[in-house]
Amino acid sequence: MADKTDARPWVPTDPTPDTIREALQTCRGCELWSDATQAVPARGGTDARLLLLGEQPGDQEDRQGAPFVGPAGRVLVDALEEAGVDRTDVYVTNTVKHFRWKAAGKRRLHQSPTRAHVEACRPWLDAELDLLRPEGAVLLGGTAGKALYGASFRVGEARSVLREWPPSYPVAHPPSWVLATLHPSAVLRADDADRQTMYDGLVADLRMAVAALAQE
Ligand code: URA
Ligand code: SF4
Repeated sequence: MADKTDARPWVPTDPTPDTIREALQTCRGCELWSDATQAVPARGGTDARLLLLGEQPGDQEDRQGAPFVGPAGRVLVDALEEAGVDRTDVYVTNTVKHFRWKAAGKRRLHQSPTRAHVEACRPWLDAELDLLRPEGAVLLGGTAGKALYGASFRVGEARSVLREWPPSYPVAHPPSWVLATLHPSAVLRADDADRQTMYDGLVADLRMAVAALAQE
């Protein structure tokens, strides 16, 4: 088996938001860069107390170069506001920094990243965590959950409880708690009958995060 490659050779030795943003565009840690417009860096100040971790950029994010600026982003912004999350407390990034898609006519259809993509991209997340040292982390959906807790993670079962940072994913400054919740895209994909309940669930989970931050 060939050696696995990952993003490590591209991660700056002294990561700052600017050096990360620039170096991210040169990353060839896996093949996803080749079909994407650009890598999508995080948004938010490094004094933010809360890390929000998504899956990967979508079509709009890939075009605009910022996370959660498409339809899922609108759901997230609404939910954060309704939950009373202070925007300056939030740093938003994705588990995988390039958009994975397949063509369907003229459209680009989202494809979930594989475990190998998640592992290849991990050095970026590690650098961001080191920079941010968040008090808490909110995992948006299954990909972020699996990245941290392993393949058996099921967001439907694991959400809405504060849990410990996984010891199997060592980082220098782990957040004091982790909270998994629904991905905003899951709210968008839900049947009309379920959508409001799912959205309310996302808001309720984000309120838990606000309450946990208030305890710090
Ligand atoms: N979904 C994600 O997980 N991240 C984004 O940035 C946009 C949609
Ligand atoms: Fe590098 Fe991550 Fe993009 Fe792969 S997805 S090329 S590891 S930034």
